[in-house]
Amino acid sequence: MSPRWNWDFEDERRPARLPVRSSLKKAPQIARRTLIRRRRIAVALVFAVFVIVLAVALAGSHHQGSTSSASTRTGAHGALTPAPAPSADTLERGRKAVSSVLAYTPFVKQGGNRGHDVALTFDDGPGPYTPGVLSALEQAHAPATFFVIGTEERYFSASTAREIRDGFVIGNHTENHPEMARLAAHDQHEELFDQSARIELAGGPRPDLFRPPYGSFNATTFRELRNMHLLMVLWSVDTGDYEQPGVAVIVRRALEGAKPGAIILMHDAGGNRSQTIAALPEVVRQLRARGFHLVTIPQLLADDPPPAGQPLPTSLSGD
Ligand code: NI
Repeated sequence: MSPRWNWDFEDERRPARLPVRSSLKKAPQIARRTLIRRRRIAVALVFAVFVIVLAVALAGSHHQGSTSSASTRTGAHGALTPAPAPSADTLERGRKAVSSVLAYTPFVKQGGNRGHDVALTFDDGPGPYTPGVLSALEQAHAPATFFVIGTEERYFSASTAREIRDGFVIGNHTENHPEMARLAAHDQHEELFDQSARIELAGGPRPDLFRPPYGSFNATTFRELRNMHLLMVLWSVDTGDYEQPGVAVIVRRALEGAKPGAIILMHDAGGNRSQTIAALPEVVRQLRARGFHLVTIPQLLADDPPPAGQPLPTSLSGD
């Protein structure tokens, strides 16, 4: 409409109307060709950079994929990792077993006595000795259940990730390891909730098993556990490994208490656990030599659930 507009319009259109390939003698046309060539080079460069970035990204994801599949292979066949991560079926079966036991009792201290299952359990981790415990279990292809303290995730979350990846079961051992019976209902709830949230954030299934620190609990604890769909898991065999009584004593106590359905208490953190680590190969070997089958707690509950009608235990810490 305005002359200015027309001028701009003409200027915009001019390249398209120029006979670009006609003559090399005309300077404006040479300039135009140069410009077009530069644009083509620029477009080619942008495309090349895009291809390189895409290739690097694909190589990165392929590398991650091959790393994880390599560790899975190690898990399936290597000496260091036991079983591949549990299938959704295994997790679902375990969850159903816990739910069906929770329907008739808020706690277990051992399974039934009809089978040959025995469950190794470890409290207070993750900690500096957890990798050693995991390696000992993995070398023996022994499943286990870990009752984990939430705040330790700030420092040792790699071990929890390894437990999740390698198919160990993770239970709730509170956020801060307090004596629950000393806490008000709200604080007990927070101790349970915060730990469960951490495990979910770490990529694990939400815990449905709980072990009370110091064996301390009261009626409020049972109410909170019920609200959160958590089954209290006590134990039938205490190895006393936290007192570092010596490798032979730990092995002897684990074996003496072993019977069908036994739940054996050990610790992977809370102090020096080198005796526990050293005892594990022998504990596993001798349990198997006696015909026991090592399982996680959900597996124990699925295979041979505890009897109904057990009296509620009182707090084990004297509270
Ligand atoms: Ni503890």
